[in-house]
Amino acid sequence: MIAPGAAVFTPVELETETDRLFRALLHVDCEPGRIWNYEACQRIAPLTLEINRLKREQNAVILTHSYVEPEIIYGVGDFKGDSYFLSLKARESNAKKIVFAGVVFMAETAKILSPQAIVVVPDRGSGCSLADSITGDGVRKLKALYSDAAVVCYINSTAEVKAESDVCVTSGNVYDIVANLPGRRIIFVPDRLMADNVRAELKRRGVDKEIISSDGTCIVHDQFDVAAITDARARFPGLKVVAHPECTAEVAAAADYVGSTGGMMKYVKTTAAPYFLMLTECGLVGRLQVEDPEKHFIGGCRLCPYMKLNSLEKVLEVLRAPRPDQIVTLDEGMRVRAARCIDRMFELTPKSP
Ligand code: 13P
Ligand code: SF4
Repeated sequence: MIAPGAAVFTPVELETETDRLFRALLHVDCEPGRIWNYEACQRIAPLTLEINRLKREQNAVILTHSYVEPEIIYGVGDFKGDSYFLSLKARESNAKKIVFAGVVFMAETAKILSPQAIVVVPDRGSGCSLADSITGDGVRKLKALYSDAAVVCYINSTAEVKAESDVCVTSGNVYDIVANLPGRRIIFVPDRLMADNVRAELKRRGVDKEIISSDGTCIVHDQFDVAAITDARARFPGLKVVAHPECTAEVAAAADYVGSTGGMMKYVKTTAAPYFLMLTECGLVGRLQVEDPEKHFIGGCRLCPYMKLNSLEKVLEVLRAPRPDQIVTLDEGMRVRAARCIDRMFELTPKSP
């Protein structure tokens, strides 16, 4: 609900906003029990109008990961995309306040890269099973065991883990960065399944590396299995299977395309196929239903409970009066060390032509 003191919008403003939302969200059908019909958009419109007004008033920017609810992405988001793209946008930002509609490690990354900004998260509980699987101390123990190894952390990790690592990677640059690192031995944290995919890709490229991984998995992507792919291919001839590198190596090997959520979107938009099976979080299907409504998706996606903690009501809350737990703060020494690890990633990421 909109708090007392909020702006009052005219019937024309409300109707125009409802129409805008309805036109954007018309084709979205990616989540059981949720529809974005005209009545739903009428309920949302006062919230998006007020959020957008406060955003302008406060010189705030809203970064939205593709997995959050579509009314956040298309209603109030300024930038939408994957972890790499949103990190770049946080680094470039001159905004006074950054609202990160995603999960906490993404907001921490924004704070590392844009320390002058007030960075807020709609829900402090929006963790990530990967980021929560290892601490800085866990990394230090691995470094003590393998002192000659370079430490590579997937961006789905805490600021503390980044501060202990040599270079950060995302789902979009992990293969190239690991393949080009000088040493042979690599500690890769926190995703055990992504480490398996890195080993398979390096083998395919003929690159000799020893990858030591910790034991985290993504609770969304580790659920997909090859049997479901085989069954879907039998039922939908011509189907294209699109997977994220947080899936198992068996699932990745059975897919037609494996890549970051940004890469997955690009693949679907540029591929002619009668059906797509998206082995990822359902929000990405929602984005494609908005941006490429002619394509057909056969279901099978899963919901990330952490991403789904974001809501328009909570975005409004952090703009109006964030609670201390919604404001990201980092120890400055740790932030500087974590920034080095992320800056190294930007340096080592191949530039697209
Ligand atoms: P992307 O960077 O590919 O969007 O992945 C983030 C994520 O959390 C996937 O589960
Ligand atoms: Fe973390 Fe998996 Fe959710 Fe991505 S989908 S935020 S990796 S739990």
